[in-house]
Amino acid sequence: MKVSVIGLGYLGATHAVAMAKIGHHVIGIEPNQAKIDSLKTGKAGFHEPGLDEALAEQIASGRLSFQSAHDETSRTVDVHFICVGTPQTKGSLAADTSYLHAAIADVAPYLREDALVAGKSTVPVGTAALLTKELSAATGFAAVNLAWNPEFLREGTALEDSLRPDRLVVGVTNQRSEDLLRQVFEPMIASGIPFLVTDLATAELVKAAANAFLATKISFINAMAEIAEVSGADASALAQAIGYDERIGNKFLRNGVGFGGGCLPKDIRALMARAEELGVGESVAYLKEIDKINIRRRDRVIALLEAELGTLKSKRVLVLGAAFKPDSDDIRDSPALEIALLAHRAGAEVIIHDPVSLPGVAIKHPELNGQADLTKAFDSVEAVVLATEWKEYRELDPNIVSAVVSNKLIVDGRNVLDVAKWQQAGFRVLALGRTIQN
Ligand code: UDX
Repeated sequence: MKVSVIGLGYLGATHAVAMAKIGHHVIGIEPNQAKIDSLKTGKAGFHEPGLDEALAEQIASGRLSFQSAHDETSRTVDVHFICVGTPQTKGSLAADTSYLHAAIADVAPYLREDALVAGKSTVPVGTAALLTKELSAATGFAAVNLAWNPEFLREGTALEDSLRPDRLVVGVTNQRSEDLLRQVFEPMIASGIPFLVTDLATAELVKAAANAFLATKISFINAMAEIAEVSGADASALAQAIGYDERIGNKFLRNGVGFGGGCLPKDIRALMARAEELGVGESVAYLKEIDKINIRRRDRVIALLEAELGTLKSKRVLVLGAAFKPDSDDIRDSPALEIALLAHRAGAEVIIHDPVSLPGVAIKHPELNGQADLTKAFDSVEAVVLATEWKEYRELDPNIVSAVVSNKLIVDGRNVLDVAKWQQAGFRVLALGRTIQN
């Protein structure tokens, strides 16, 4: 089939590659010319393992091309996927859907009456119905085909998640839309991936609900961590023990500095804002606490450092990690970066290391000292905070590190270090959710 992918950020670039990989002819459309130029050379422009290789492969196959705006070729497209961003609005909890309205206005003049517009962006429930009206008005068609097809990919495993999702969800208002989406996803459906057909509102809400549930799981265990810290219990052992109950499950129960990134934080806030608009704000008022528990974990790290070092003024503190999770260069709402900024505001001289995201940090936060050489980063520091669980940090040799630091203190913000090994090298080890005997 012929598909277009409108908006080539994390979601769009990955989706475009996935669509080409399963055999469709794909036009990627993105107004940012620099992004187009980069994509054409096989560079997605962000760190995602395996994506650049797959991108180059699909461009070479002749099935994937990019352009900066719609033109006559858009009339040949069967399904237009909209993948533009819906960031948090400045000064409000709500999602900013302006890019979606713009995308609808842009595609309308080129839309065939039998073609489909399928939104993939994460949106407040009710957005698709609104966009349907806009598209009807702009095209003058008696019935427009507009569907919602939320995406559940995780950064770091984006392509794999797109090609082999746990489930496909499509919200539709007519049979034609369902048929087209069944055709698009035919290879995945044939491989046994569940294909759920719903109305528009349900499809929109599925995504918001899934992310709210995931955020709740993490903040739940982090709330238990707060109790563990004052009672001598161990939150990681607790998570393991409750996780054996299949109704609870052991996934997404890792306690630590909490969740971040471009999705979970903004999506729970957008859900609260939308529920409020719909007059049922109380239904998800608890998400405010979920958000607060998450933010408090960052403060806890600073409190641990201050308890050990007294004031942080002029203390050299090394933060290991800036990305919100390993295998990503995304620093949006990153707990690691926020901890570095909190320490900086408390007067510390902060050194920050990250295997891939330092260029982004340097642009946004020149006040932090980025150090790309991991060994040099430890030089004369008085405290180390492991804030993102990159493989290179989990595999650090404390004996090598101990020779260059000026004070042997490490806070394990992700509960991934071999405590005994670090203690043998002379370190005092502190962690979230448990009290370690040093
Ligand atoms: C998330 C959803 O998982 C995905 O389905 C959706 O499409 C987009 O949002 P992503 O933002 O890539 O994906 O990251 P995810 O792997 O979900 O992790 C989110 C955050 O939670 C990270 O900061 C991670 O470190 C943290 N986390 C995750 C925990 O603190 N504990 C856990 O047990 C799991």
